[in-house]
Amino acid sequence: MVQNKTGFSKLSKEEKINWIAEKHFSNPKEAVNLLQRYQNFDASLQKLHDEFIENTLTNFYLPLGVAPNFEINGKNYTIPMAIEESSVVAAASKAAKFWSARGGFKTIILGTEKIGQVHFLYEGDTQKLIEYFNFVKPFLFSEVDSITKNMQKRGGGISDIQLIDKTAALENYYQLHANFQTKDSMGANFINSCLEQFAKTFKNKSEAFGMPSIQIVMSILSNFVPNCVVRAEVSCPVSELNEDKNNTSSEFAEKFLTAVKIAEVEPYRAVTHNKGIMNGIDAVVLATGNDFRAVEAGVHAFASKNGSYTSLSHAKIENGIFTFWLEVPLALGTVGGLTNLHPLVKFSLEMLGNPSATELMEIVAVAGLAQNFAALRSLTTSGIQQGHMKMHLNNILNQHQATKEEKLLVVAHFENQTVSHNLVVDFLERLRTN
Ligand code: MEV
Repeated sequence: MVQNKTGFSKLSKEEKINWIAEKHFSNPKEAVNLLQRYQNFDASLQKLHDEFIENTLTNFYLPLGVAPNFEINGKNYTIPMAIEESSVVAAASKAAKFWSARGGFKTIILGTEKIGQVHFLYEGDTQKLIEYFNFVKPFLFSEVDSITKNMQKRGGGISDIQLIDKTAALENYYQLHANFQTKDSMGANFINSCLEQFAKTFKNKSEAFGMPSIQIVMSILSNFVPNCVVRAEVSCPVSELNEDKNNTSSEFAEKFLTAVKIAEVEPYRAVTHNKGIMNGIDAVVLATGNDFRAVEAGVHAFASKNGSYTSLSHAKIENGIFTFWLEVPLALGTVGGLTNLHPLVKFSLEMLGNPSATELMEIVAVAGLAQNFAALRSLTTSGIQQGHMKMHLNNILNQHQATKEEKLLVVAHFENQTVSHNLVVDFLERLRTN
């Protein structure tokens, strides 16, 4: 069945699948069959997923793994991780075990403030605008009463609203810049609803005040949250650091420190260094139903807040003690959004003991620090390819439909050899032709 593109969203799911299969695939039957194999046999679960987004065709799986043995502020956690990259979960688990024998991870919340802005243009006298802002400010608060009531009961709400003059950056450009506390919710809906009401109030009252030229451009939260930050840290005596026979503890510690310093001064390295941190952060953010795009955007803006992109983690050695820490902005929620809807998100949160949003910030930051520690330890000792390609080997074998027997032979062959995609495929082909 071929359908006109303009009515696509109106088609049933089956009609959409058929339309796509016929339009874009040389073997439409095969394409339909693939999409069907990914549908959940539980119709109500499938319906739930279908309705998360628009034009759903099927599900797109990511593995959900766990990293056990995390000791955070004296409490034990098994951390859920949704990620497609091999080695990440293994690295987190290894780092968790390593640090649980050395006092575990310590964390502290440095702030929980969220930000939203009403962006507007105004052509008149700035002093008059300031007077108008002072007049309208109480109305900005009172006219969002119905929106803020519940949040206030939970201890959150709007902490402040300021008028910001941005005309030096862009002609006639001003903002209402508001600070929010959103407790256990990420707060996007709450903040955006407040902002849209601020914009209405601000515009509505302006004419009576003789300020007709205010033009609202947009109202939206900011994903840059430099005051919604958590710090995670590990430390131990340098002498207890080493597990590698080829280096002494202090050689390892010094090299590790240098690797961190390189990421602090060299943006090319900092981006990769931080990517490793995000391997841990994103996996937990995703498993707990949080918005990883918001977290990514905010984290990288934070990493460049002083004008050049730098490492999110830092390390020092003082009086024989090695300390490694990370500070990251994380706007997370444990209520609202997907948290009540996605059964695996509920599962992940229950596995974590149904944490508050701040406790989740701590767990997520720890996952990032653990990942960074594991990556730097590999990079400054054996290199990452040895471990990484061994894990990758399984993916290559699966990709080439290797049998159990073939897998055993290939794994044995590459036990002491560098793994590369070509070498594995060559070896597999030789096995199959002999
Ligand atoms: C790979 O996903 C992440 C690393 O590149 C991180 C790093 O280099 O620190 C290993």
